[in-house]
Amino acid sequence: MSRKKVTILDIQKRKQNKVPITMLTTYDFTAAVLVDQADIDIILVGDSLGMVMLGYSGTTQVTMDEMLHHCKAVARGASQALLVGDMPFMSYQADVAEGVRNAGRFLKEAGMECVKIEGGRETAATIRAIVQAGIPVMGHIGLTPQTVSQLGGFRIQGKTAASAQSLLEDALALQEAGCFSIVLEAIPARVAGYISQQLTIPTIGIGAGVGCDGQVLVYHDMLGLYDRLQPRFVKQYGAIGKAIVTAVQTYSEEVRSRQFPAEEHTYPMNETEEAAFLAAVAGR
Ligand code: KIV
Repeated sequence: MSRKKVTILDIQKRKQNKVPITMLTTYDFTAAVLVDQADIDIILVGDSLGMVMLGYSGTTQVTMDEMLHHCKAVARGASQALLVGDMPFMSYQADVAEGVRNAGRFLKEAGMECVKIEGGRETAATIRAIVQAGIPVMGHIGLTPQTVSQLGGFRIQGKTAASAQSLLEDALALQEAGCFSIVLEAIPARVAGYISQQLTIPTIGIGAGVGCDGQVLVYHDMLGLYDRLQPRFVKQYGAIGKAIVTAVQTYSEEVRSRQFPAEEHTYPMNETEEAAFLAAVAGR
C-alpha cells in the first residue's frame, strides 16, 4: 500500500499527538528506495556522508557540491519521506546572504524540502533569514560534529547545570528563529527530555534519550556498515557489513572454483545456429 507524502505539518502533528518521529540518514538512490519502503518519516542527507561514504576523518571537509550530488540521488529514490539536506561547514557561517543562497540550492537543484543547520544562538539570524526566504530549517544542537575541534572532540554536551541551561537557551532561540524541529545530539537524557517539553516544535534525538519527540540514527551505524566510530548511542539493527564480506568471499571462491557462473546464469544458443557457427569457424 502506498503511503502518503510526509509533510512538515505531519511532523508537527506527531509531536502534538505524542507519536514518535522516525528519521534516518541516507546518501544514495538504492538506499533511499529501501528506506522509503520502510516507512521512515524523515530522510536526512547528513554531512556524515563525508565519513561513511567518502572516507574523510570528519565532516568539515564536506563541500556543497558533494552534498548536492548525494541529495539529488536520494531525491530520485525517495517519494514519501520528508527530505532534509544538511548544510555543510562554511556554507552558512561566513555570511547570512550566502547561507540563504546555499540553502536555496538544496531545494532548487537537489530536490530537498528542508535544510538542517548546526549551531545555537549564533546561527539564529541566518536561520531566520532562510526561513523568511521560504525554506524550512531543522536546527541541530549539542554535539555538533562540524565544530568538534572547538568542543574538544566527540563528547557529550550539557553535562553541567550551566551547559544544560545554555542548551535550553539555544533551543528556545532556534524555535524563535523559525526552526520546524531541532536535532539534539549527545545530551543527557534528562536534559534533552526537559528541552523537548519546553518546546512547541519537535526534537529529534541522537544519543539524547527516549524523552525526545523522535529519533535519528546514521544508516551505516544502525546497519553495521561502518565500524571506525561506534558511539554508545548506536544500536545495530543489522550486520550488513559482515553479510557483504561473506557474500563477496563466496562469490570470489565460486569464481576461482568455476562454480560460478552455472548453467542458469548463462545464455543458451539455438542448436542449429550453434552448428552453423561451428561449421563456419571450423577451418580457421
Ligand atoms: O550528518 C548527520 O548524519 C547528522 C545526524 C547525526 C543528525 O547530522
